Amino acid sequence: MSTSVRGGQLARLLGHWHSLPGRHRSPDYVALAGAVRGLLADSRLPLGVRLPAERELAGALGISRTTVTAAYRSLRESGHLTSRRGAGSWTTLPAGHRVTSSGLWTPDDDVGMIDMGVAASAAPIELVPAARAAADDLPRYLGSAGYHPTGLPDLRDAVAANYTGRGVPTSAEQILITSGTQQALDLVLRLSVPVGAQVLVETPTYPNALAALAARRARLTTHGLDVADGWDGELLLGALRQVRPRLAYVIPEFQNPTGHLMPAGLRERLVAAAHTTGTELVVDESFVDLALDDREMPPPVAVFDRHSRVVSIGGMSKAYWGGLRIGWIRASAPLVQRLAALRVGVDMASPVLEQLVAVHLLADAATIVAERRGQLRFRRDTLATALGEMLPEWRFVTPAGGVMVWAELDGPISSALARAAEDVGVRLAPGPRFGMDGTLERFIRLPFTLSPEDLTEAVRRIASVRHDLDHVSRTGWRTPAVIA
Ligand SMILES: Cc1ncc(COP(=O)(O)O)c(C=O)c1O
Repeated sequence: MSTSVRGGQLARLLGHWHSLPGRHRSPDYVALAGAVRGLLADSRLPLGVRLPAERELAGALGISRTTVTAAYRSLRESGHLTSRRGAGSWTTLPAGHRVTSSGLWTPDDDVGMIDMGVAASAAPIELVPAARAAADDLPRYLGSAGYHPTGLPDLRDAVAANYTGRGVPTSAEQILITSGTQQALDLVLRLSVPVGAQVLVETPTYPNALAALAARRARLTTHGLDVADGWDGELLLGALRQVRPRLAYVIPEFQNPTGHLMPAGLRERLVAAAHTTGTELVVDESFVDLALDDREMPPPVAVFDRHSRVVSIGGMSKAYWGGLRIGWIRASAPLVQRLAALRVGVDMASPVLEQLVAVHLLADAATIVAERRGQLRFRRDTLATALGEMLPEWRFVTPAGGVMVWAELDGPISSALARAAEDVGVRLAPGPRFGMDGTLERFIRLPFTLSPEDLTEAVRRIASVRHDLDHVSRTGWRTPAVIA
C-alpha cells in the first residue's frame, strides 16, 4: 500500500519552489520538477508516495495545469515518477539507484582514525568503581544458575523506578532487561512484525533500526523530518492514518540523526492516532537523559498511552557506556512475558555481572548523567564553533540535546566526502546511511562524543578535503542529486 500526498501538503513542502536559489530563467515546469526531485533527494517526500492529481496540485500552487503536466512528464522522463492510467503517479528513483543502510561501523579497527561514525561516548570514570562493587555483590547470585530471562530483579526495579520518576508509573513486571536497545528493538519486531507487514519509520533514522526492520522483511513507509523543523505533525499523522501500519518506530528525544525533540502536543496526537489505526508505537528513548539546555523536557510518549499502544525501549549506551550492553523494554506485564519467552530462543538472559554494574551506575545516576551532560554540552559547542569557523557554508540547527549534529552540506557530496575523509584519518557516516533509497546526499551526521581536540582536528581535516571535492560536485546549493 502506498501513501498519497494531497495538493495542499505538497504545496507546503515545496515552499518557495518558484524562487529557489540557482534558478535563472528556466521555465516554471522545470523549476517545479526540480523542486520535487529536491524533496525526494532529501527524503522529505518518501519513495512510493502518490502525488496529487495534476489539477489538484495546479489549484494548490495557483499555477496552470499545463505547467504541472509538463513537470510530471519531466519527472517521469528522469525516472522520478511512475504513472499508471486511472491509478495515479508515484514517486520513484531512476533505475538502478539504491544505497543500503546496513554499514558496520566498529570503533577500534584503525588506530589513529578519528572515528565520527559512532555516536557514543567513552565510559564514565564511575564505571570501574561500579564494576568493583558489582563483583562484591556477585556471591549472592552464584548459588543459582544465573539465568534471568526478564532481568535481575534489582535492575528491573531500578529501571521501573526511573520511569515512575519521569511520570509513567511502572512496575518491575513491566520491564524486560535486554542486551542493549538494539536487542530490545529486535525482540519487539520479532514479536509484532510478521514478514511483509507495514512499518512506519522516520527518515532519516537510525541505520541499525533499518537493518533490524530489513531482517523482518517489513514494508516501510517513511515520514521525512525537516532539517530545521523536525516532524511535520500533519504529514506524520496523515501517513499513519492512510497506511495504518502494524508498527511505527520513532525516536522522539534528540532524534538520531537530526537531534530534534518531539513537542508534547505531537506526542499526544501520535499516541491517539496510533490507537485509532491499531498501530503499535515503538518509542526509542536512547537519548532521553541527554538534554543539554535548560528547557523543560516534554513528557515521555508513554504518559499519553491509555490503551497499551506504546512500547518504550531504552538503554545505558548513551548516558553511561555502550560496552555494558544493557537495554530494556517497558511494556505491559503480559507482553513482557511473551517477549521474554521469545528472547530465550535468542540468548537466554543478560549477563549477571553487567546487570549488577548497571544497578550501581543507576544508583549514582544524578552525578553521572550531570557530568555527561556537561561534557557533551562543551563538546557540542566546540564542534559548532569549529564548523562555523572552518566550514561556514554548512548549515545546521544546534541540537538541544543528544550527541550529534545533522549538517546540511553545500552540495550533494556526503558519500564522496566520507570517502575523502577516510584518506585523511576521519571516519564519517554519510547521509544516505540514514535513509533507505540513496537520498540524503546533502547531509552528514557529526557526533560530538569525542574529545574537543579530536573534534576540532576532525573538522580541520574534513575542511581540507572538502575543498578538493569541488570538481566532483559542480552542482550547487539546493540542487537535488541521487547517488547510486
Ligand atoms: C536511536 C538508537 N537506538 C538504539 C541504539 C542502539 O543502542 P544500544 O547500544 O543500547 O544497543 C542506538 C545507538 O546508537 C541509537 O542511536
